[in-house]
Amino acid sequence: EKGGYEHFMLKEIFEQPRSIADCMRGRLDAKNGRLVLGGLRDYMNKFQNADRIIITACGTSWHAGLVAEYLFEEFARIPVEVEYASEFRYRNPVISEKDFVIAISQSGETADTLAAIELAKSKGATIFGVCNVVGSSIARATHAGSYTHAGPEIGVASTKAFTAQISVLTMMALMLGYQRGTLTESKYVQLLNELETIPGKVERTLKMNPNIEAISAEYKNARNFLYLGRGYNFPVALEGALKLKEISYIHAEGYPAAEMKHGPIALIDEEMPVVFIATKDNSYEKVVSNIQEVKARKGKIIAVVTEGDTVVRGMADHVLEVPDTAEAFVPLLSVIPLQILSYHIAVMRGCNVDQPRNLAKSVTVE
Ligand code: M6R
Repeated sequence: EKGGYEHFMLKEIFEQPRSIADCMRGRLDAKNGRLVLGGLRDYMNKFQNADRIIITACGTSWHAGLVAEYLFEEFARIPVEVEYASEFRYRNPVISEKDFVIAISQSGETADTLAAIELAKSKGATIFGVCNVVGSSIARATHAGSYTHAGPEIGVASTKAFTAQISVLTMMALMLGYQRGTLTESKYVQLLNELETIPGKVERTLKMNPNIEAISAEYKNARNFLYLGRGYNFPVALEGALKLKEISYIHAEGYPAAEMKHGPIALIDEEMPVVFIATKDNSYEKVVSNIQEVKARKGKIIAVVTEGDTVVRGMADHVLEVPDTAEAFVPLLSVIPLQILSYHIAVMRGCNVDQPRNLAKSVTVE
């Protein structure tokens, strides 16, 4: 059942080239410049004309929502708010019929997310679900939706569901941008073609597994970890930190790299490993200066970089390479080494990676 892998989590990490391809199958046809999400067809008008997109979710699914905020705003120019379902439901939020609400949930059973949906529905908003489990409560409670088709995820730590959620949200953002005319036809087609290469690039990223295992051995006794990224990689930093804390029980914080100097920088000394996501994108130069700041304080630096990077390689203690891609698609690659890092550290610490203490796969109580 674990397909020869020692744990479900590792199996699910390695399934990602296939699960992402499954998610795009029958939807993305780059050769013919076509992208269709069946679930969106009847609601495209509402989506296109929405005043605002509200995304609600918990945990890792909320991180996928944060990535989507960057995607929707970049490609479709519609303002986005990303809300923890538990806060949203109790805040008496301002919601109207012109809002398009996207609820993201792997299990489709998360109590807070379900309650947030019911609230938004009662105010007349359109609710769209991005769920993995077919026929789940959230899938049934929404007006429409697109399944992530990642297949069953057994490990409590979400991995392949996260990349499938981002894949669906990316396709939604591209469709929306194209329909609204905020994304030109040529750019659209270029992005569709690039999106199609992602499963192969994930496969290449997975080849780093042995390197990451070696690095993990060096850091398995760390007491704390900091994860820093900017732009599309800011949510990836949050996700990397969550993965590490939930399965290895090492305290970890994710931050937008620029926020470091507003507090967390005080934590940095030679005992503090800092994971930077420093891929070649619009914020690369800025991240490089943040790396210098950490280095000057003797922090240990593990950096996720774009293949062929030499600048960060010269500064970091360890680099983990991911293939080059469009800036908007980087999270699908940059999260992979962080999943693998947390996995190995947890295994080396003797933790039960598939069933971490105090956690359940679906959180059906608030
Ligand atoms: O099933 P959901 O996507 O609604 O679950 C949300 C969170 O409970 C979930 O992502 C949790 O944070 C994971 N254990 C993270 O790995």
